Amino acid sequence: MRVPLPPQSRVVKRLVPRSFLGRSLLIVLVPLVLVEAVALQIFYGTHLDVVSRRFSSAIAGEIAVTVALLDRYPSPDDQAWILANGWEYFEMTMRLEPGRVRPEHERPPLFAPVQANLAAALQERVRLPFAMDWRSDPLSVVIRVQWGDSILVVDAPRKRLYTGTIYLFVLWLVGSAMLLFAIAAVFMRNQVRGIRRLAAGAEAFGTGRDIGPIKPEGATEVRQAAAAFNLMQARVRRFLAQRTEMLAGVSHDLRTPLTRLRLALAMLPVREDTQRDIADMTEDLEEMDRMIGGYLAFVRGVGEEPAQPADLPLLLEEVAARARRAGADIALEVPEELSVMLRPDGFRRAVTNLVDNARRHGRHVRLAAATAGPHAVEVTVDDDGPGILPARREEVFRPFESGPGGGTGLGLTIALDIVRAHGGDIVLEDSAMGGLRARITLPV
Ligand SMILES: Nc1ncnc2c1ncn2[C@@H]1O[C@H](COP(=O)(O)OP(=O)(O)OP(=O)(O)O)[C@@H](O)[C@H]1O
Ligand SMILES: [Mg+2]
Repeated sequence: MRVPLPPQSRVVKRLVPRSFLGRSLLIVLVPLVLVEAVALQIFYGTHLDVVSRRFSSAIAGEIAVTVALLDRYPSPDDQAWILANGWEYFEMTMRLEPGRVRPEHERPPLFAPVQANLAAALQERVRLPFAMDWRSDPLSVVIRVQWGDSILVVDAPRKRLYTGTIYLFVLWLVGSAMLLFAIAAVFMRNQVRGIRRLAAGAEAFGTGRDIGPIKPEGATEVRQAAAAFNLMQARVRRFLAQRTEMLAGVSHDLRTPLTRLRLALAMLPVREDTQRDIADMTEDLEEMDRMIGGYLAFVRGVGEEPAQPADLPLLLEEVAARARRAGADIALEVPEELSVMLRPDGFRRAVTNLVDNARRHGRHVRLAAATAGPHAVEVTVDDDGPGILPARREEVFRPFESGPGGGTGLGLTIALDIVRAHGGDIVLEDSAMGGLRARITLPV
């Protein structure tokens, strides 16, 4: 029994990439990021914190010394000397301003261990009301300490609070992750290419295109799959060849006795009582001959005719003209000019088969051609007959599948074989004329 997925695992499913490449990269990347995050946490949480505390307490201590000196030597001269020393020895500019410390400067950003450490150190060492301003100067922190009625303003350079190694470390983490990811992506892409090629090969072979054996590449399993596919392809091909050969042989061999029979029948003396029978037999023989002709055409259908640039409107005109001569009511709608690479004899036969069907089942036929997007042309054959039920539209393509009033049941099979050999396809649909529409799509 299948248990329905809880909603969150459906969300996970949607987030996980669908392609093999994406998934394998994820498999590489997720543990990597996890490991690095743990490393960063350990480094940041212990080593960096200790360093930052030391830095903070050094600054706080220097400010505390300055405050103590200011307390001890109140004369303006001394005080100026003390403040000047701040720069000299601590790399911090210091000055006294009248006023009161405004506490709104005090709020540090949320995730800010350095700020918190400095605040703690100032509290511990200086023991006077103070405020820190982290915003107004990107290079330094302005610390204001309430000293009597004045404010001791200290510009402490930020570089005294941070250590450069954290950037190096983060850079190393991100850089190594990216490097690993890039290497994995390159290697995995090559692995996936073999699978993709196999899928494309199977698809092409399934639609009857000749792609030849596919090159085995990638991991052993993928190579094995490719080799197995090539073997299967060869077997299927051999089987098909045997089938067509046999059909050709049988048809061909039947023709000779059939011709003999027809001749013998024609030589029979015509008598009143046998005349009807002879006529019937001749008709039957002719039908058999037509059928054999059909089988032979089927066998030859996917012949070795080379593809060449062909004038599609002209070709369709020929088909329509021939149908008209045989008494069909056929309308032709083709563009002025449309040159397509195809095997003219084969393609003419495919369209003729469709037109024959339309004629047989409908009264009016419409043959049309048009470009369908930048990479395809479409040839459609419409009729106003009874059409084919959607459920039957697949089976009529099978050989010898013939409905009421049908022929040998090879027409559509041959047409599809030919069109697929061109890399195209035939689809049966409802026609706007009321009957069936056969739509040939050809890549160009
Ligand atoms: N335009 C159509 N309208 C209605 N049914 C059709 C149409 N085209 C084909 N069919 C049905 O599909 C069946 C198979 O067609 P297909 O052309 O393969 O063979 P066929 O016409 O019976 O024989 P063949 O073409 O070899 O003389 C037909 O027998 C018919 O029942
Ligand atoms: Mg037919």
